[in-house]
Amino acid sequence: MNSTQSAGFVRDDADRVSRRELAAKRKQLAKAASDTRKDSPDLPWVWLPEKGERHPNNLRTARAVRPPLHRGSSTTLGVGYPFLAETSDAMPGAFIGPDLLSKGMFSWDPWVAYGMGIIRSHSMVILGVKGSGKSMLAKSLAARLCRLRRRVAVPHDPNGEWARVAEYVGGVTVQIGPGAADRINPLDAGTRPAHFTDENWAYEQQQYQSHKLQAIVKILRQTTTLPEVEHTIIDLVLQNVRARNNHVLLPAVWDELRDPTGPNAAEIRDGGLQLQHSIRRVIVGDVAGMFDKPTTVTFDSDTPMVTVDTSLVSKASDEAKALMRLTTNDWIDRSSTGTADQARLVIHEEAAVALLTEVASGSGLTQRAADEKVARHHGKANLYVLHRIADLDALGDTGSAMHSQALGLLADCDTRITYAQHPGELGRSAAVLGWNDTQRELVRKLQKGEGFWQIGEDTLRHVRNVCTTTEMHYFATDTHGGSRA
Ligand SMILES: Nc1ncnc2c1ncn2[C@@H]1O[C@H](COP(=O)(O)OP(=O)(O)O)[C@@H](O)[C@H]1O
Ligand SMILES: [Mg+2]
Repeated sequence: MNSTQSAGFVRDDADRVSRRELAAKRKQLAKAASDTRKDSPDLPWVWLPEKGERHPNNLRTARAVRPPLHRGSSTTLGVGYPFLAETSDAMPGAFIGPDLLSKGMFSWDPWVAYGMGIIRSHSMVILGVKGSGKSMLAKSLAARLCRLRRRVAVPHDPNGEWARVAEYVGGVTVQIGPGAADRINPLDAGTRPAHFTDENWAYEQQQYQSHKLQAIVKILRQTTTLPEVEHTIIDLVLQNVRARNNHVLLPAVWDELRDPTGPNAAEIRDGGLQLQHSIRRVIVGDVAGMFDKPTTVTFDSDTPMVTVDTSLVSKASDEAKALMRLTTNDWIDRSSTGTADQARLVIHEEAAVALLTEVASGSGLTQRAADEKVARHHGKANLYVLHRIADLDALGDTGSAMHSQALGLLADCDTRITYAQHPGELGRSAAVLGWNDTQRELVRKLQKGEGFWQIGEDTLRHVRNVCTTTEMHYFATDTHGGSRA
């Protein structure tokens, strides 16, 4: 058998011998094979005849079979070649653009996908370098979802680029910061939900204000813990201020710390000196004028889009920016979940900085992780816009609880969209997002406006976001010079 098998390989370099030699060789081989079979009739075929085995319906032919090219719709091909070709089954939702893998059209609506069981959480993350088209996708998705009666909120718009999008969809923009007319009081507990009793609401306000004041002091001091005594003083001060005022404002808190009233005045005076100095910065110090007045804006939950333009704080101190983020985030959160719950897309531009603020306010990311769980019940979909995985890595030392919470947040987002990446970041992204070599190569070649979508467990798309001229007019960030992050 071995000799015959090795003789079979001679045929591979047949083009090096003449036709006559080849014919002789074939004859010899055929004889050898037939002898072998004759010697041992049980032996299977040892080499395959050129025209195929001789038995009925075997389509024996000397020529290679060349079927005509077949063109089919991606749905037909998807059925014909399951697991190889994406069927691009039309998913209802906001149209994004063509899927460059299946050539089908791609639409997206996180609530529909959730309803269809494709994803287990509504939240999404977009990763990509500056200028790759992340904001453009966030804006396109948001504006197109608004047309499907979804609601959108942007709690922190550091570049002031969402005001035009809000204008485009008939939404509202609130501008806060130094010199702006609108104010949000960070200690404002928001609208009272209809089902809350007086007692429940009083307790809720008390809890909220106490947590918030602790967070403000932590940010101002750039620390993550407060001495025990200050927890007590904060509660006592707030209790006294609430007894005398309808609105709890930071100046009233400061006054109470400087000149305490009531039966616990001595205790406040003894333990509140450091607090008094910390809060002074918000009243007369470097962070003054932004957080010391009652809220002037009301949250209209029926408006398609609410954006908070925080571009005026861009030159303020890091603490002022962090306080601003904390304030606007809570305002949107409490206003939108306290009233009638509606599916709402909450877009976090510069999400890494926002997460850093949460770390700085002492809650770590525990609060954020909890928010992700609650979000599902309220139909809230968070959309985090990040530059790179390294931004999450920076939130805590490798192996620390914070670090795993940061990466866990990414795992909580069942829709991961990658835009162009720096070549140096590809390895880390591939490891965290679980790309194989082909997917990594696909990401490496992504053009501006193209994203690699990983949806749920096993849906992959390579989608180009198509924008109309009108949309470009409202969404583009580089019409007045270089693009922004
Ligand atoms: N899908 C797209 N189609 C056409 N132009 C795009 C697209 N995406 C981005 N751009 C262009 O790139 C610029 C930067 O995009 P942007 O989304 O602001 O980037 P970033 O990733 O920094 O948020 C936009 O102003 C626009 O001109
Ligand atoms: Mg951007």
